[in-house]
Amino acid sequence: MNDPHAISDTSLLNGIQTIQWRCPSNIALVKYWGKVGHQIPANPSISITLNEAYTEMSLQYEQIDTAGFELDFYFEGAQNPKFSDKIEQYLNRHLDVLPFVNGMKLTIHSHNSFPHSAGIASSASSMGALALCLCSMEQEVTGALQEEGAFYQKASNLARLASGSASRSVYGGVTVWGQSAAIPGSNDEYAVPFPFEMHDKLKNMHDAVLIVSKAAKSTSSRAGHQLMDAHPYAVARYKQAHENLKNIATAMCEGDMKKFGEILENEALSLHGLMMTSQPSVVLFTPATWQIINQIRAIREQNGLDIYFTLDAGPNIHLLYPAAIKEEVETSIIPKLVVSCEGKTWIPDHLGSGPERLQ
Ligand code: PMV
Repeated sequence: MNDPHAISDTSLLNGIQTIQWRCPSNIALVKYWGKVGHQIPANPSISITLNEAYTEMSLQYEQIDTAGFELDFYFEGAQNPKFSDKIEQYLNRHLDVLPFVNGMKLTIHSHNSFPHSAGIASSASSMGALALCLCSMEQEVTGALQEEGAFYQKASNLARLASGSASRSVYGGVTVWGQSAAIPGSNDEYAVPFPFEMHDKLKNMHDAVLIVSKAAKSTSSRAGHQLMDAHPYAVARYKQAHENLKNIATAMCEGDMKKFGEILENEALSLHGLMMTSQPSVVLFTPATWQIINQIRAIREQNGLDIYFTLDAGPNIHLLYPAAIKEEVETSIIPKLVVSCEGKTWIPDHLGSGPERLQ
């Protein structure tokens, strides 16, 4: 995170103003899967914010002579009507909390640091970046959100309304979203930074994203969340997520890597188990996903290294390991795992310090 107030000169309001943010993606340790009403999570989740997988977004705004707003949206330098429609719908739906966009022409340029085809979910970083740009705009246009806590709280809330997991990306380090008895201040409407001191072992966690498949996801997360509405295991799942969150938080404070890994892997497999047992059934694992999971477990059994996996709603594997064993993992373990990856691709990442406002 950095100072959200870098540019807030309201005297500049005549003419075109530009705001730029870089916002990283995140990977959930305890998964958000299932929602209640409009973007309220059915269970709390916890994630680490990444560093290398990010969206850079610029938002230009200019006063115009109309009651509503106008929007031009560019993704990777080209106009993108599909994304543009989505953002327009989002802004229209939430005008009650974004009244300052009325009477403005908005031009948004969005760029991801990771290839679109890499199978990394980009909604967390892109919707996080959009929310941060909108909060900076609100600050400049209305003078509100001057206090840092209020700024990030609103950014997280706005991000949530676009994509639940994006609510966690507006903070660096470890972030919790959703009410949990174990996390003071946790909230369904916005994420909060992990409020406890983490053990040193976890402070520089690395994440190697093993690209099993570069294909676009066959099921959207929106459809996936909906499958939980009638899922026979839903009640038990939400209880399990609360328990897992409480226990992983303790493991992270105590530096209990074995417990941390056990919960991490249980969460990933629970997510996919829920998808597989939903109606209709969704199978996103591929033979290569199983192959790599089995290899990780076998290697860990042999050499006792703290290497653990998690997955998003897709076939790709996030291999988490502490900084202390980075060298060994990257030179002698990852080369064995990437044999099963598409084009032997993997993307190195690590726990990051969060979004940054660019000048
Ligand atoms: O934020 P959404 O609606 O794309 O859902 C994200 C769901 C998972 O990535 C599978 C889990 C999570 O908590 O990030």
